[in-house]
Order: sequence, then structure tokens, then C-alpha cells
Amino acid sequence: MTTYTVGFLVGSISSTSINRRLSRALVKLAPQADLTLTEIPIAGLPFYSADNDGAIPAEAAEFKAAIEASDAVILITPEYNRSVPGVLKNALDTASRPWGQNSLAGKPSAVIGGSIGPIGTAVAQQHLRSILSFLASPELSQPEAYIHMRDGLFTEDGDVTDDSTTEFLVSWLKAVHTHIAKSLSDVS
Ligand SMILES: Cc1cc2nc3c(=O)[nH]c(=O)nc-3n(C[C@H](O)[C@H](O)[C@H](O)COP(=O)(O)O)c2cc1C
Repeated sequence: MTTYTVGFLVGSISSTSINRRLSRALVKLAPQADLTLTEIPIAGLPFYSADNDGAIPAEAAEFKAAIEASDAVILITPEYNRSVPGVLKNALDTASRPWGQNSLAGKPSAVIGGSIGPIGTAVAQQHLRSILSFLASPELSQPEAYIHMRDGLFTEDGDVTDDSTTEFLVSWLKAVHTHIAKSLSDVS
């Protein structure tokens, strides 16, 4: 089976981010789904401004190039105030511009997120799907992946302590693989 290279964005810059733990788990489990996951960092991106469209900042250009070089992107989002954290929205705005140079157009994507709340980022993910839809990124619709981050579910290193969560994450990654294969075959 083809191994796809997937860039992932972590929508939290917290040093204690539970979504970063989730990202580490996904990196470890990805080979079981014939995926290689590589982070595309967003913490150093300047705030997007149309003033810079004529001369894109180097960090933004590097970020856009990394998305374009990936077969697909995975967005790992916290939920902040029932929406997408600003740092992640800024990254998506940066990816989308200058007008006509949307790095996410046609790029397969998948969303997942973890929250201490029981609905596991469901509302933030709906907002994220709306943004990705506008950006013409074909999204994995099912299975949805709302992770309720109970204490101890993930170790700091990204080991999952619960078998059913491990099984779910591997099955979700396999669905991401199928989604990428289908999306890329549709455009070739
Ligand atoms: C500004 C802010 C807003 C939050 N809003 C929500 C929310 O709407 N829903 C939710 O389930 N948790 C919410 N939380 C709690 C987060 O789930 C929790 O802080 C989580 O650790 C954030 O993910 P991170 O550690 O990867 O940054 C919020 C936290 C912060 C700091």
C-alpha cells in the first residue's frame, strides 16, 4: 500500500497541551495506517495581514510550502470558547492567501481534537470544517474524532493507556489513508 506523507498542525501553543500529546500518539500509530506524520509548525507565524501579500514573510512562505509538499494535512484542534483557537485560525488564514494562492485548495484534510470537556471539541471541529469547506479542502467526513481527554489517557510521550482509544485512533488513521487515496485518485 502507498505510504502517504501527511503534515499536521497542532492548534495549541501551550507547553502543557493535551492536543500535543494526542499528536505524539498519532505520530506513533501512523505507520499502522501507512502514513508518515510530520508537524508543520504554526507557533512562529506572524499574524496574517493583507499588507504583506506583496512580500510574504519568510515564515509564512515556508509554512505554505510545507502544506503544498504534503499529500494531506491533519488538523489537531483544541476547543477554545466553542471555536477554533486563534493561533490555528491565523495559520489557516495564512495558508489561504494571497488570493489565488490558497495552499489548501484540493488538499485532502482530516480533523481531530481533544478536550477536557465531554463533547471533545465537537463545536470547534464544526467551525473548522466550515473553514476547510470554504478553502476547497476535501475533508474526511467520517469517522468523526472527538477525544475526551480523561486524566492519564495519554502519557506525555504520546503513549495511549486505553486499548479502545488506541484501536479507535488506528481505525481513524486508516480512514484518513483511504480518504487521501480516494481524493488523490479523483484529481489524477
Ligand atoms: C481560552 C480557553 C477556552 C476554552 N474553551 C473550551 C470550550 O469551549 N470547550 C471545551 O471543551 N474546553 C474548553 N477549554 C478547556 C480546554 O479543553 C483545555 O484547556 C485543553 O487543555 C485545551 O487544549 P490544549 O491543552 O491542547 O491547549 C478552554 C480553555 C481555554 C484556555
